[in-house]
Amino acid sequence: MRFLPLLPLLALPAWAVTTLSPAPTPTLFSSIIETKLQAIANVLKSPASYPQYTDRVQGIWQFFDPTTWTSGFFPATLYELDTRAKLCPSFKTQTDFLGLGRTWSQGEVPLETDSGLDHDVGFLSYPFMHELLVNPSNTSAQNAVIKFGNFLASRFDPIVGCTRSWNTADPTDFQVIIDNMMNLEVLFAAADLTGNQTLRDIAITHADTTMKNHFRPDWSTWHVVEYNSTTGAIIRKRTEQGFSDNSTWTRGQSWAVYGYANMFNRTRLTRYLDTARNAADLYLTRTPSSFIVPWDFDAPLPLMADTSASTIAATGLLLLADMEESLSPPNSTGAARWRTAAVNLLNAAAKLAWSPSWQSLLSNGTVNNPAANNLTGIVYGDYYFIKAGNVLLSEGFVRCP
Ligand SMILES: *[C@@H]1O[C@H](CO)[C@@H](O)[C@H](O)[C@H]1NC(C)=O
Ligand SMILES: *[C@@H]1O[C@H](CO)[C@@H](O)[C@H](O)[C@H]1NC(C)=O
Ligand SMILES: *[C@@H]1O[C@H](CO)[C@@H](O)[C@H](O)[C@H]1NC(C)=O
Ligand SMILES: *[C@@H]1O[C@H](CO)[C@@H](O)[C@H](O)[C@H]1NC(C)=O
Ligand SMILES: *[C@@H]1O[C@H](CO)[C@@H](O)[C@H](O)[C@H]1NC(C)=O
Ligand SMILES: *[C@@H]1O[C@H](CO)[C@@H](O)[C@H](O)[C@H]1NC(C)=O
Ligand SMILES: *[C@@H]1O[C@H](CO)[C@@H](O)[C@H](O)[C@H]1NC(C)=O
Ligand SMILES: *[C@@H]1O[C@H](CO)[C@@H](O)[C@H](O)[C@H]1NC(C)=O
Repeated sequence: MRFLPLLPLLALPAWAVTTLSPAPTPTLFSSIIETKLQAIANVLKSPASYPQYTDRVQGIWQFFDPTTWTSGFFPATLYELDTRAKLCPSFKTQTDFLGLGRTWSQGEVPLETDSGLDHDVGFLSYPFMHELLVNPSNTSAQNAVIKFGNFLASRFDPIVGCTRSWNTADPTDFQVIIDNMMNLEVLFAAADLTGNQTLRDIAITHADTTMKNHFRPDWSTWHVVEYNSTTGAIIRKRTEQGFSDNSTWTRGQSWAVYGYANMFNRTRLTRYLDTARNAADLYLTRTPSSFIVPWDFDAPLPLMADTSASTIAATGLLLLADMEESLSPPNSTGAARWRTAAVNLLNAAAKLAWSPSWQSLLSNGTVNNPAANNLTGIVYGDYYFIKAGNVLLSEGFVRCP
């Protein structure tokens, strides 16, 4: 059973390495990763701002205000590199990535009480949740998670049965996006810290409503479901970032796989495991044999990739594999299937998009194609690339380089 927290596992002896086929690409553990991250992290912005995506020619990071939904990913990436240094004594870094992660988190602190934020407080809380893995008694990190969790809970509407994703001019127009599944983790984390079970119940209700209304009969997903908050009725189902209302936006499907695998981890309710499996099956059925996923599964050819969709799905599939192994008896066949697919996605993304001359690790990210933002590096694409590598290291599927 590989259902392990990252921290206690330090150097694994060589015999503990379990062979995966195909083998994960060494690019996942390239020393270029620490060099690039260190260079960006050493130049703290004042006032605080955070990398989100690069330009498409030279791969230079573009920086955004802390209120951008992606601002937690860069500090969380620095924490992941601290984890890597702890996993691998051979990771000979002179850089204090933990210190840098803590410093870069500071710019997010004012957001804890900023009610102008949308649902994305779950993503914003990543560095603080990671801090609690390092130092569970850090009260300022505890408070951040609790405040973000309560803020998300304040967006819950019992008539709709969801937390509101985006704010709208007409408050009865209640919009929920599939991405919101990823933000539910902060409700569980805050419930653990406070003992307030309401936070947990809200996450479960949101996941059940989304299971009912965001999935099509083939387990593909709509991006946006708009509810009427007065009646709870569905007004329409549509896309925002996908190719068309009825298409399957690939990153949305990645969030669905990951979000429901996480729901099963948190609740052990079989309906979430089934949903994660079905969403993953659809994902892999629609993935080309090259394992390079298009930005939307229904977009016309030639294929334009979204490597962030690959790394998110890969990390979600690694979690789903852990969930299969946590069953009794362990479902080793299922676990092997998801883990192999995850490695195939990571290897293909690295082969296509590993870009040593760019500031980001990967190119070929599609931020938002309808908004003409494609062919860039993306901070969350890189974050999940590193995180997936750490999962493979901590579970003994690869040796430290
Ligand atoms: C506690 O966590 C905060 C926020 O994550 C961080 O900035 C701070 O340095 C940490 N404090 C200690 C004593 O580790
Ligand atoms: C539990 O959380 C809910 C949602 O944030 C909140 O309304 C309620 O007041 C909390 N209960 C307690 C005892 O703090
Ligand atoms: C929601 O329903 C109420 C009552 O029927 C109506 O007044 C309101 O315009 C509806 N809102 C939307 C966004 O359709
Ligand atoms: C989109 O899906 C809806 C609901 O499944 C269906 O009624 C509609 O005909 C579809 N539209 C297109 C253009 O395929
Ligand atoms: C799974 O859930 C447990 C608590 O139920 C939590 O401690 C652990 O961090 C979760 N694992 C992952 C990979 O999120
Ligand atoms: C990857 O990015 C390069 C450079 O922007 C571009 O020429 C190529 O078409 C992209 N490939 C895919 C599959 O998206
Ligand atoms: C094991 O996982 C696979 C997913 O690949 C699933 O189809 C199968 O039903 C699972 N088996 C059991 C016994 O849970
Ligand atoms: C990528 O974005 C550009 C605008 O920046 C747009 O002209 C182009 O059509 C997009 N590519 C695809 C394959 O949609």
